[in-house]
Amino acid sequence: MLTLTGVVAGYGGGDILRGVDLTVEEGSITCVVGPNGAGKSTLLKVVSGLLRPRLGTVTFQGKSLTGKSPQHILRSGIVQVMQSRSLFPDLSVRDNVELGAFLVRDQAVVRKRMAEVVEQFPIVRERLDDRAGSLSGGQQRMVEFARALMLDPSLVVLDEPSMGLEPKAALMMYGYVRQMQSDGRTVLLVEQNVRAGLELASHGVVMEAGRVRLTGTGAEILLNPQMRQLYLGGTVDIDPALSASGPRGDADAPSWPA
Ligand SMILES: Nc1ncnc2c1ncn2[C@@H]1O[C@H](COP(=O)(O)OP(=O)(O)OP(=O)(O)O)[C@@H](O)[C@H]1O
Ligand SMILES: [Mg+2]
Repeated sequence: MLTLTGVVAGYGGGDILRGVDLTVEEGSITCVVGPNGAGKSTLLKVVSGLLRPRLGTVTFQGKSLTGKSPQHILRSGIVQVMQSRSLFPDLSVRDNVELGAFLVRDQAVVRKRMAEVVEQFPIVRERLDDRAGSLSGGQQRMVEFARALMLDPSLVVLDEPSMGLEPKAALMMYGYVRQMQSDGRTVLLVEQNVRAGLELASHGVVMEAGRVRLTGTGAEILLNPQMRQLYLGGTVDIDPALSASGPRGDADAPSWPA
């Protein structure tokens, strides 16, 4: 559905992505993990058009998106929820959600979509007239999801959706990610919580220093012994349960091309 080939991109003088090849399968939940500064958010910015690649190509549903504007990319069905809070805190929940449909001219379509997301997210229904800034972090994330769905995207891009959420709110959020997949959408997300992200995902991608290091199913990546090496001394926490229940040594672990 989405293919990146040889993508080189960065800010100012330096390259952050140094030749990224990535495929996102239609209907998948594809989770990108990797140490801080690996270039995960930069990769998502290239996908949503916020950053133009210096080299390489981005293809979505058979059409080139290389170098296209963020608005063009939104219209083609890719919507991103940013890493940091992105609601307008002084606007109502309703206004924030409606802003997600700013590209839709037909008000009947806007009303229909609004009815759908209100149905899907009880918190949006309950707090429609409240200031978005008065909601908890988890509730605000739900409003961001609702806003993203107003364009009825085929690919939803989420940058660390669990960041700052309490465990209960994070679980609920993961449930909504699964729901997006059941509704026929494809999801590309970055997760700091490696275990939760890869368990949620059908496909996993490990990035390091601006390159894709490993790909496979979420489960294959979780059990890969190279993952431990990658994160040794790093800042990303791999659940200790991995060493208790995971495979021992290389004998029964999947092998990966160099
Ligand atoms: N707007 C920017 N201008 C200049 N450098 C930037 C900018 N955004 C990110 N960088 C740099 O690019 C590198 C990769 O950043 P990126 O945000 O893609 O990493 P990440 O994998 O998402 O990390 P994290 O896990 O901390 O979110 C970092 O060294 C960062 O300092
Ligand atoms: Mg990031």
